[in-house]
Amino acid sequence: MDVLQAIHSRGSVKAFKPDPLDRNLIEQLLDAAVRAPNHKMTEPWRFYVLTGDSKRRFAELRRDHRAQRFEDPEAPEARKALEKAYDGVIDTPAVIAVATLVADDPVRREEDFAATCCAIQNMLLAAMSLGLGTYLRTGSLLEDPRLRELLGAGEGERVIATIYVGYPKEEPRLKPRAPAAEKTRWLD
Ligand SMILES: Cc1cc2nc3c(=O)[nH]c(=O)nc-3n(C[C@H](O)[C@H](O)[C@H](O)COP(=O)(O)O)c2cc1C
Repeated sequence: MDVLQAIHSRGSVKAFKPDPLDRNLIEQLLDAAVRAPNHKMTEPWRFYVLTGDSKRRFAELRRDHRAQRFEDPEAPEARKALEKAYDGVIDTPAVIAVATLVADDPVRREEDFAATCCAIQNMLLAAMSLGLGTYLRTGSLLEDPRLRELLGAGEGERVIATIYVGYPKEEPRLKPRAPAAEKTRWLD
């Protein structure tokens, strides 16, 4: 699959087959990530690959974090939502948490964040070319100190995304976009 095909067929994948992922596949995603453009070559990205027991602990954390939204987490509808939060991770073969270094200098900080976002997009497109699906998730969970602890993330890092990865159960339905022409002004 060439890059344009990967770009135009990518969509967030909601459900994955249970098949585990070879470590080599995940390594290919990470190798693609670090090819991202990066001003000053700070290489600000950090990756945490969660499978097996660490993924189970992440699922518990996601459930416990979400429980804070409910006045009564034991109420039937809350229990259902919390089970869904847990199962959503358990049913995903691998979760990759992505962190970026937080520089003291604001310009460097913003550029590093942008570079890590480029690295994330590389991973999503590399996944497409390997027949894998992805789902990018953020949210307040990323700021939960228990997540840093689980990952063992360093002091100067900010976790900016989680990428859920696996073999897609079905082709994603592509969400329409406004044509690029509507967002573009050509300046001759
Ligand atoms: C920075 C960023 C954060 C996102 N966070 C979430 C999230 O927390 N939960 C979620 O369901 N989707 C999240 N998404 C995925 C978007 O909802 C999704 O990309 C969008 O609906 C477009 O759909 P597509 O990826 O299928 O094209 C995030 C996407 C980006 C770029």
